[in-house]
Amino acid sequence: MIIKSLKLVNFRNYSDLECDFTNGINFIYGNNASGKTNLVESIYCLSIARSFRTNISSNLINNKNKQAYIKAKIDFNGSNKCVEIIFSDVGKTISIDGKKVSKLSELNKITNCIYFIPKDVDLLRDSPKERRFFLNVNVSKENSIYLEEMASYEKLLKERNNLLKSEKVNLNLLDVVTNQMISLSKNIYYKRKSYIDKLNVKFKDIYNKISGNANNVKVIYLPFIKESDDYESLAKTAYKNSLENDLKNKITGIGIHKEDFFVVMNGKNLAKFGSQGENRMAVLALKICPYFLIDDEKLKPVVILDDVLSELDKTHEKMLLNFLNNINQVFVTSTKKYEINNATYYQVCDGRIIKGA
Ligand SMILES: Nc1ncnc2c1ncn2[C@@H]1O[C@H](COP(=O)(O)OP(=O)(O)O)[C@@H](O)[C@H]1O
Ligand SMILES: [Mg+2]
Repeated sequence: MIIKSLKLVNFRNYSDLECDFTNGINFIYGNNASGKTNLVESIYCLSIARSFRTNISSNLINNKNKQAYIKAKIDFNGSNKCVEIIFSDVGKTISIDGKKVSKLSELNKITNCIYFIPKDVDLLRDSPKERRFFLNVNVSKENSIYLEEMASYEKLLKERNNLLKSEKVNLNLLDVVTNQMISLSKNIYYKRKSYIDKLNVKFKDIYNKISGNANNVKVIYLPFIKESDDYESLAKTAYKNSLENDLKNKITGIGIHKEDFFVVMNGKNLAKFGSQGENRMAVLALKICPYFLIDDEKLKPVVILDDVLSELDKTHEKMLLNFLNNINQVFVTSTKKYEINNATYYQVCDGRIIKGA
């Protein structure tokens, strides 16, 4: 997908904005609080009709207004598509080429976006929840059934936890629910494992290209059940062994909802032993990686890098900017204007944008 143009009405600090974008690097610069993140946030909303920094739609609406409107002209496989999203206090409306769509999957067929925002630098050191979110988003983009399986699993997990909270726990029913969870867990496990295997095909190369090193980096999956051959019986044993704890704590202590991954560099866990800079480059490589796992050009995501340059030294700055030339369309924000070959510049100033400045 390529975003050709964008119109924002009452989105964050933009009361009315229209802007054309180009292929390659779109370099957005401006002072603090001028509206750089708001702009790329609106671009990200085109992919999942949700922000990367809030779940509350009303936060996206310009003060005192009733709704925020985003309209984008998108080049999808050579044909133009028009995506419109309205956020209001009561929810959101998505339209493609003037027709309302009710399913997010319809939007996902033509839009895709990946991002790196400043707080992502802690992804490897944050709680496992953040890493599972990264994994879930990316696996579900590849496999729509995964999303359904995850939703069914979450439902069963809730049911199991409710059973555990009851005064006299119905152990037969608990067993039935546990077995249903195990069948789903197996499918989810295979999809997660295969995605992490795919990540590892590209991850090392991208990390070394943007960091200028020749390190051996790898993503290591920490599944709930490690062996795939006898998954179901191993999972049953694991649940049996944890039953006492589950009954005591009144919550399901094990399962795919607790899974995690970590990154090793030359045999060491990067989260524990890596420097801030190494963590930053590893997360950046990890988050850009999905772009290179998609072969179909029309499905390749737009890449957003919000405020990523300020923390890099000159060498890494240069390496990253060079690397970005491998991406069809990228939006980079910064408080400083960098000299980059082949970039189109946009200066943001209090909710206005000057292209070519
Ligand atoms: N819903 C909103 N309505 C109006 N202004 C907003 C809204 N949400 C955020 N802002 C303002 O938008 C401005 C720009 O924010 P942001 O894009 O994050 O700045 P930066 O250029 O530093 O990335 C901030 O001053 C912020 O207070
Ligand atoms: Mg910002």
